[in-house]
Amino acid sequence: MKLAAIATILSASPAWASFDKWTPPGPYDARGPCPMLNTLANHGFLPHDGKDITREIAANALFDGLHINKTLGGFLFDFGVTTNPKPNATSFSLNDLGNHNILEHDASLSRTDAYFGSTIAFNQSIFDETKTHWTAETVTLQMSANARTARVKTSKATNPEYSMSNLGDGFSLGESVAYVIIIGDKKTATVKRSWLEWFFQHEQLPQHLGWKRAETSFEREDLDGHLQRMRELTAERTGQASAGGARKCRRQVPRCHISIVGSGNKILLRPRPRPLNRSSPAPSIDPGPCFCHHDSVLTNFAFLGQNRPFGSTICATTRFKLHDAF
Ligand code: HEM
Ligand SMILES: [Mg+2]
Repeated sequence: MKLAAIATILSASPAWASFDKWTPPGPYDARGPCPMLNTLANHGFLPHDGKDITREIAANALFDGLHINKTLGGFLFDFGVTTNPKPNATSFSLNDLGNHNILEHDASLSRTDAYFGSTIAFNQSIFDETKTHWTAETVTLQMSANARTARVKTSKATNPEYSMSNLGDGFSLGESVAYVIIIGDKKTATVKRSWLEWFFQHEQLPQHLGWKRAETSFEREDLDGHLQRMRELTAERTGQASAGGARKCRRQVPRCHISIVGSGNKILLRPRPRPLNRSSPAPSIDPGPCFCHHDSVLTNFAFLGQNRPFGSTICATTRFKLHDAF
């Protein structure tokens, strides 16, 4: 057997992963707030126990199950791994994704806000609210934008602790695009309502309703183009997302003073010798529990309150020169 063929076999999802096989989670299996990753675990593309998902496992699962280009899959994994509270983690479990206000955010489409309960469990009444905005058999990006905007309004009106970070806002936009173009058709940006309803409520790929893995692969550009459209369609902004967020980051985490060195796919964080703003107090601790993630899909900078040691690298992709950006 040729080396390339062996490599392909070794880098595929587990042998029993299949569109036809589906097993619900057992009592000791981990599941999270992402209906798609849960679904991939139920089909066996991800480990069925939902635990210890590495970059390679995630990228293979997203490729095999959804035809997402492996570079994009790895990029998404790099966000996911930040939710694992262990320092220098190289994997995450699906329940880690539910840690509030890292990636998980309020105003989800099928989960309640952390203030009211589990950010992980599917919530029928929340989902019923979302569904009312899918007003035709074919769901469009506009309907998706309407559903998201309505959930934000409801959350703001009912949750006294409502919050939405820049990163959460960007993720929320991305999710509302993803369910349309990844489950549906990326060219027309439409998806069958029946597929969505089945997918969200059963965490199963709706093959029996005619769904098929896309024939062409999803690239970063597919997501970026539709994200911009979703931003425009969204009537109400849920956060302060914008490019060049250095000042916003400082405001969000006032004691975090770092400089960013590097460019390309890796950036290195270094403590700043003194606060940027001389009038602000010197950090009482090494600005340790902070790291910064620049994400060019979301065109955001955001600090995440994670316990990352200094000098640890995180993956990022950037078109900006990052040296001392802050
Ligand atoms: C490694 C890849 C992925 C990671 C780390 C990830 C992570 C997450 C997280 C943390 C959430 C919770 C946000 C919240 O609602 O509070 C979420 C929700 C969601 N994800 Fe994923 N996700 C990934 C891939 C995907 C893919 C490929 C899709 C494609 C359809 C998808 C669709 C969704 C949707 C629709 C939601 C919103 C659920 C809701 O609002 O109730 N995700 N994801
Ligand atoms: Mg949520």
